[in-house]
Amino acid sequence: MTQYIAKTPDGNGYVDYTAEENNTWAFLYDRQMKLIRGRACDEYLLGLDILGLSNDNIPQLPDVNRALRQSTGWEVAAVPALIPFGRFFELLANKQFPAATFIRSKEEIDYLQEPDIFHEIYGHCPLLTDPIYAEFVHNYGKLGLSATAQERVYLARVFWFTIEFGLIQKNNDLRIYGAGILSSKSETVYSLESNKPQRKPFDLLDVLRTPYRIDIMQTIYFVIHQFEDIYNAMDTSIMQRISEAIELGNFEPSFPEKNAPSAKSRHDC
Ligand SMILES: [Fe+2]
Repeated sequence: MTQYIAKTPDGNGYVDYTAEENNTWAFLYDRQMKLIRGRACDEYLLGLDILGLSNDNIPQLPDVNRALRQSTGWEVAAVPALIPFGRFFELLANKQFPAATFIRSKEEIDYLQEPDIFHEIYGHCPLLTDPIYAEFVHNYGKLGLSATAQERVYLARVFWFTIEFGLIQKNNDLRIYGAGILSSKSETVYSLESNKPQRKPFDLLDVLRTPYRIDIMQTIYFVIHQFEDIYNAMDTSIMQRISEAIELGNFEPSFPEKNAPSAKSRHDC
């Protein structure tokens, strides 16, 4: 269920956002830009330059798509607020990243559970200009399209711990590449600088066995060294790894159960 309704683009793909909606973008954009220098990975920062996103208006998809198509052949597709899993994989397999064309309300400026246009464009699109990363997401979509419902549950963990909440370490420099982090004020700092979460080397089988919660700051981050690490994990042998993960079972959750008294909800997105 969602309280948000995506806006319908006109015949040319443009959306008529209100001044208040554009102000929300400007506020979020400015706030994140001050935080991500030195924290976001270089490929993301380069992608931001390539896209040349507006700092004061919600970017229009045809404009973002022109830059994305030129870089890697990807584009962003306008979708309703929530879409079924099957449609999601179909879009990715077609090099289309789904984005709901609504922006969070003032009341949810720091955190909302569902992805809005700020998360989709600011969080996800810059890295889709990187050829290896973009091909990884494309292959992920193709594998998901042919996966069973059970396999898709495990594939969702790969998405979560890489595309949404991945960290990357080159030499001794730990940076962020996950869109769920890069669109979040608090998690941008917490993911790198807090001593609370675990930071584990990326291992596909470990990722497949690791449960997560979407509504708290993450308790585990998986760290890659280069995008080839996740690109190489994304071939048909992943289904064999999923069978192994099912056989071995899930790791114990490293977070409190939802609704448990000690479960602190995250306060920021
Ligand atoms: Fe996302």
